[in-house]
Amino acid sequence: MGILIETQNIKKSFKTEAGEIQVLKGINLKVNEGEMVSIVGASGVGKSTLLHIIGALDNPTYGRVLYNDRDIFSMNSNSLASFRNTEIGFVFQFHHLLPEFTAFENVLMPALINRSIKNNGRIKNIDIYKKADEIISQLGLSGRKNHKPGELSGGEQQRVAVARALMLEPKVVLADEPTGNLDTATGEEIFKIFMELNKERGITFVIVTHNESLSKRCHRIFKMQDGLLFEK
Ligand SMILES: Nc1ncnc2c1ncn2[C@@H]1O[C@H](COP(=O)(O)OP(=O)(O)O)[C@@H](O)[C@H]1O
Ligand SMILES: [Mg+2]
Repeated sequence: MGILIETQNIKKSFKTEAGEIQVLKGINLKVNEGEMVSIVGASGVGKSTLLHIIGALDNPTYGRVLYNDRDIFSMNSNSLASFRNTEIGFVFQFHHLLPEFTAFENVLMPALINRSIKNNGRIKNIDIYKKADEIISQLGLSGRKNHKPGELSGGEQQRVAVARALMLEPKVVLADEPTGNLDTATGEEIFKIFMELNKERGITFVIVTHNESLSKRCHRIFKMQDGLLFEK
């Protein structure tokens, strides 16, 4: 299997009132297709910053991010929005569900956004309502689909967030401390879902986690330290 994601010498600084801080100092990471990798490291070291850059949610100050050898930051903004929407699923520590919408509507959201992006085509011909129902059922949420996030447990909310991330059948899921806000058993349940998706559908995972025992079950572990990434 080939390399799916490659970061080349990624640097990132932020300008703050206290001056410029350099968070990423040259990150080189290669993730193979179908691989599940974890990134660990102390709080504030830059893990979320890197994940956001890999997911094209933020620009690097320097360096390139390639998906299948394609430089994503060289795309125009429309193509990049479409790429992010269809190829990448995000799962965050705080699920970031829309509180006013039901579980079903939250899962549907990426498909509705996709329709509003020009030049799509990927999901034009599928019944998005049926698809959302299928995913909700796969994640064991059928009985909760008409509930709003506030009416769901932490684990259910995170499963809705996973369902939303999977709605457009992404090749890659980027997860930023996806179990950080959950108790051990519920975190384990979410991680098991990731492992199944990886094994059965070949989805590639990059998971930032504080949970050492979960990180050890990934194919490879990377540690971030002093703005650099080391394979453990
Ligand atoms: N938008 C921003 N502006 C200024 N500083 C930021 C911004 N985002 C992150 N940082 C700083 O970058 C560093 C790394 O943050 P982050 O990537 O969130 O770390 P981690 O996810 O490893 O805890 C922190 O010192 C944080 O304060
Ligand atoms: Mg973080």
